[in-house]
Amino acid sequence: MQRTVVLLKPDALQRGLVGEIIHRFERRGLKLVGLKMMRASNTLLEEHYAHHKDRPFFEGLKKFMSASPIVCMLLEGVDSIAVVRKMAGSTNSREAELGSIRGDFSMSVSANIVHVSDSKEAARKEQERFFEKGEVFDWQSAVSPFLYGGDEK
Ligand code: RTP
Ligand code: MG
Repeated sequence: MQRTVVLLKPDALQRGLVGEIIHRFERRGLKLVGLKMMRASNTLLEEHYAHHKDRPFFEGLKKFMSASPIVCMLLEGVDSIAVVRKMAGSTNSREAELGSIRGDFSMSVSANIVHVSDSKEAARKEQERFFEKGEVFDWQSAVSPFLYGGDEK
């Protein structure tokens, strides 16, 4: 089953939105297989945002991401990368669809509440980057037969 990483950025924590956002993913039927809180170090952020290192917002982004702890989630579900990306909404929250996390809770491009993996490759790397092996839990969902048809899993 496909896995994807969600980071609840410092603005989510500061604004008391952590529970609300976890609730949205749970209600959608995504399975929580990892959940932790951490302070993102400069080294970790340099690696995570390496593809943005020449962009003018890079230093500001790192500063923002280390302003307070972040909450890291690993979610599992069929096509979870695309589903979770849609639930997050467009990067520019002012253009994000109503009903998406950014569209409902943010007015900003930089303070946009969540980070979500954008590809299979990114999801795999981000799982390794943010979770130790013992922090990922394989558990049997009792409601799985009610979340998917037999031919979907
Ligand atoms: P994310 O990686 O956080 O899920 O967001 P994304 O794919 O929608 O956006 P991406 O292009 O990967 O940019 C990563 C994060 O950098 C910040 N950003 N600031 N000030 C700016 O113009 C600007 N552009 C991007 C945002 O926090 C964005 O989520
Ligand atoms: Mg991205």
